[in-house]
Amino acid sequence: MSVISSAPIGIFDSGIGGLTVARAVKAELPGEQVVYFGDTAHLPYGDKSTAAIQAYSIKITQMLLEKGCKLILIACNSASAAGYDLVTEYVGTRAKVLNVIDPVVDYLREHFAHKRVGLIGTKQTVNSKVYEQKIAALNQGIVLKSLATPLLVPIIEEGFTKGEISSKIIHKYLNDPELADLEALILGCTHYPLIKEAISNYYTENVEVIDSSEIVAKALKAYLSFNNLHNRGETKPDHFLVSDFTDSFEASTRMFFGRSIHLELVQLVS
Ligand code: DGL
Repeated sequence: MSVISSAPIGIFDSGIGGLTVARAVKAELPGEQVVYFGDTAHLPYGDKSTAAIQAYSIKITQMLLEKGCKLILIACNSASAAGYDLVTEYVGTRAKVLNVIDPVVDYLREHFAHKRVGLIGTKQTVNSKVYEQKIAALNQGIVLKSLATPLLVPIIEEGFTKGEISSKIIHKYLNDPELADLEALILGCTHYPLIKEAISNYYTENVEVIDSSEIVAKALKAYLSFNNLHNRGETKPDHFLVSDFTDSFEASTRMFFGRSIHLELVQLVS
């Protein structure tokens, strides 16, 4: 089956995290239509089992394919870790599938060979060891030190992105001996760019805080060019879908996209 270049790009996450990726995608590719799905009914993904995240990812993908998406971007590290291979197999030739981990691993190969790099992410992402495996396969002498930071998604979803509460939790996590002496820290969860400032403020020495959203958007652009899949027709309006209405999602979507957006409730097929 051939993929149509004028079709939308489907992007999904458990909640508002993937909006950081969607925003970077729109900045890089303003001519593309985005259909965004936030699985707010099942948030957070990071504490769920691999099987549960895989099941959600397949249902969301099925829905995005029904909406005619040419490409599915899994804008969630937890779902990329748990479900990318399965989603790719499920989609087959009906669309392209990208995740948020491979572009970051490519970035490390280019910029951090023989360096010590930290990773913070959900329990699912860290325990999956997917970053370790992909980085080891590069054979570039990159030493990865990982720490699960499960409290960060709830505080971000609750809007505590600045101030004392988030700063204390961030300091507690980043002080962990596992994350000592780093040259870079990967924000291995798409929610974390929302607290990037607080994380950067923690470091007094030169540590690059790697925000995957722009790296992923650039990789997506290159991918569309390589596969001749850029939309060349008119740009259609973006759609924002959720599995449950939450104030936080609505407020964040307005904040990110700076205009009035219409949120649509979608029941995933069981
Ligand atoms: N933003 C997601 C990630 O990148 C999911 C966070 C969560 O729902 O726990 O992992």
